Amino acid sequence: MTDHTENTMEKIISLAKRRGFIYQGSEIYGGLAGTWDYGPLGVTLKNNIKNLWWKMFVEDREDMYGLDAALLMNQNVWKASGHVAGFSDPLVEDTKNQKRYRADHVLEENSVDPKGMTVLQMNEIIKEKGIKSPDGNPLGEVRQFNMMLKTHIGPTEDENSVTYLRPETAGGIFVNFKNVVDSFHPKLPFGIAQIGKAFRNEISPGNFIFRLRELEQMEIEYFIRPEQWQDSFEHWKQQMNKWIEAIGLTKNKVHEVEISDKDRAHYSKRTIDFEFEYPFGQKELYGLAYRTDYDLTKHTEASNVDLTYYDEDTKERFTPHVIEPSMGVDRTILAVLLSAYTEDELGGETRAYLKLSPAVAPVKVAVFPLLKNKPQLVEKAREVYMNLRKNMSGVVFDDNGNIGKRYRRQDEIGTPWCITIDFDTLEDNTVTVRDRDSGEQKRVKIEELTFNF
Ligand code: GAP
Repeated sequence: MTDHTENTMEKIISLAKRRGFIYQGSEIYGGLAGTWDYGPLGVTLKNNIKNLWWKMFVEDREDMYGLDAALLMNQNVWKASGHVAGFSDPLVEDTKNQKRYRADHVLEENSVDPKGMTVLQMNEIIKEKGIKSPDGNPLGEVRQFNMMLKTHIGPTEDENSVTYLRPETAGGIFVNFKNVVDSFHPKLPFGIAQIGKAFRNEISPGNFIFRLRELEQMEIEYFIRPEQWQDSFEHWKQQMNKWIEAIGLTKNKVHEVEISDKDRAHYSKRTIDFEFEYPFGQKELYGLAYRTDYDLTKHTEASNVDLTYYDEDTKERFTPHVIEPSMGVDRTILAVLLSAYTEDELGGETRAYLKLSPAVAPVKVAVFPLLKNKPQLVEKAREVYMNLRKNMSGVVFDDNGNIGKRYRRQDEIGTPWCITIDFDTLEDNTVTVRDRDSGEQKRVKIEELTFNF
């Protein structure tokens, strides 16, 4: 496994662009900070990850309901949830050039741990230590900056037409709790899962797809009886670890970190962050939170719609509590790419390749005719290719350049298997199957070609 340095980020960003995984958003206009576009291979990698998540957490379980709520929601949703008042990060400004920074990041860069600090304490420590902006200028007062992306809906721009692009997918789940209960009458515990976009006006987006202004989340709100919260929290911790394994993340680079009282989100009584060792430091990958009955209670109060639950077995009516596993799609992709990026030596040559798990790899199998200018080989290769495509996705045909180059190209995008059709194929109906990681080639009968993932 390759050891990661700052350099690894540059290599991955360059590979992602060159090979059609991820491009800078609005690139031809100079970009738009905090936005990235997924290219042909990137969107397939992303869909594979989302489909795997949906299968593992929704389809393969009997206690889960899927949802796809609107991104735009009534402003009262976000007032009730506390986001309009409190979804903010500490902002500090360079007093000379007016550049703005996350105050906690500035402190970290000056070897001060900002965990649990109030804005007041940040101001004090900046003054006490004489901390300057990254450009060496004096800093202004730290203040809270709300990250909600605000817009107006309809032709009038006034207070009543204000709406927000959702900052988390969770909001759509809470406001549909009653709908799902009324339609399906599920017994507790049960969950509602959603995958979709979320928007945050981050003060300093950066580190490629790590901190975005437009991001995607895979979230579950798992509704429980209050006394079940500890068991349920443990269950979801295990499930998240199972997921981390399924997508092939480097296990020893993932760390569970207990979040202190002061640093938890306003709605949480216990949070564990799953942090990943990125080349730019160990930072959040996923979160697991015990949100208590905070959201359903707040939405009941604000909407005047009863969001309690009647338990037929115990004949009790109460507000369910919630365990929330929350996973960012983009951070998953970054961690997957970093875990997969490998440099080694094969056949006396150095190579850089993506050791992607076959379950997420955008291309699973590449089929080659040994020579491009031999019609019999090309015809046979296309026949094998077309037959494989009938039964699986992620099969490509490639006859460009020599075989060595084709292997390198497929290695670089993480294709686990390459099949070559040569002159022996025409005699005995066998092909060579080459394994990406070892470079080993095996002769296999065409009718026995199977790929397990
Ligand atoms: N519903 C809970 C919630 O949204 P969060 O910790 O703010 O909690 C959950 O976000 C996950 O969403 C994070 O663990 C991360 O994977 C992803 N995420 C959050 N902000 C992000 C950003 N600016 N860019 C990319 N991913 C982000």
